[in-house]
Amino acid sequence: MAQSPRKFHSQHSILNTSLTLTPMIYINRTQRPRRLRESPLLRKMVRETRVTKDNLLYPMFVSESGSSTEISSMPGIFRYSLDDLKREVTKVAGLGIPAIMLFGIPNEKDEVGSGGYDTEGIIPRAIRALKAEIGDSVLIVPDVCLCEYTSHGHCGVISNGTVDNDETVPLLARAAVAYAEAGADMIAPSDMMDGRIGVIREELDAAGFPYTPIMAYSAKYSSGFYGPFREAAGSTPQFGDRKAYQMDPPNAREALKEMDLDLAEGADILMVKPGLAYLDILRAARERYDVPLAIYNVSGEYSMVKAAAQNGWIDEGRVVSETLTAFKRAGADIILTYHAVDAVREGWVE
Ligand code: PBG
Repeated sequence: MAQSPRKFHSQHSILNTSLTLTPMIYINRTQRPRRLRESPLLRKMVRETRVTKDNLLYPMFVSESGSSTEISSMPGIFRYSLDDLKREVTKVAGLGIPAIMLFGIPNEKDEVGSGGYDTEGIIPRAIRALKAEIGDSVLIVPDVCLCEYTSHGHCGVISNGTVDNDETVPLLARAAVAYAEAGADMIAPSDMMDGRIGVIREELDAAGFPYTPIMAYSAKYSSGFYGPFREAAGSTPQFGDRKAYQMDPPNAREALKEMDLDLAEGADILMVKPGLAYLDILRAARERYDVPLAIYNVSGEYSMVKAAAQNGWIDEGRVVSETLTAFKRAGADIILTYHAVDAVREGWVE
């Protein structure tokens, strides 16, 4: 005797086992989420989050010394000489990645980080060279901080044994203006001094750059995930740590306070850093602010993925794509990631 599809189902589905135990609760034949997961095309149609290359910002290191060297803890990432940087950025532009961040590695460091705000320093020279080579095909976003340029490795100048906030801020503003004059498309201060966004905004305006945006590293935590970066930039503090100026990892409300202040001081884009361990902060910011948000997928996060992939313990492409998607799903518009070039080249993003 012919059976109705429904009857057939109830007799042969393995789900049926639970039906006999607790009928109405475990099986809902009206709603079956699996229906929309059956085919790749269907999954694609109902996909809620898409990372595209337009979301990516690729951080790069430029060295004043004449040669390029791979950073041993960050396979695939180099400190580029100026010539090699031009070649690499041309490739980045060719891949359609819209923006790069620049970190400078100077030949000489001093107590007050003068290489960071010297108009002939490595960053202004790199920006001018890139602009001459590639024009406006990639946005150039220099990181503004003194730690790569100070002999002691701190993000500001030292007086009485501590990083002096108010003496540091004008130097950061000088760096920002020097970079804007060289042609920077956006300024990204990462030092975590109080009040620096307001002063940088004022000085940029006064110098004739009222339309140069500021992407503020607003909620930047004092994190173990920066380890490989400090090897790359030679910026490990020679004494103490950064806990007196970068945020304490357990604090979430304080992150919102930092972001409120940066917005009030004129920030255009707010950043959370690091990424994966701070997705709750990004989500909270997304719910609270209507400005673009950025997240920094930092060096330690990159190195862990690379190391595991090189050991064959994870599938790099899947893990990178899942990670970048998590940032977007949590609310990021802009993702700073060392994976950017691989992700676009290998098709790990759309
Ligand atoms: C400079 C700066 C750091 C990073 C970005 N800008 C290092 C730090 O604060 O120690 C970290 C980037 C990364 O780990 O990828 N202040």
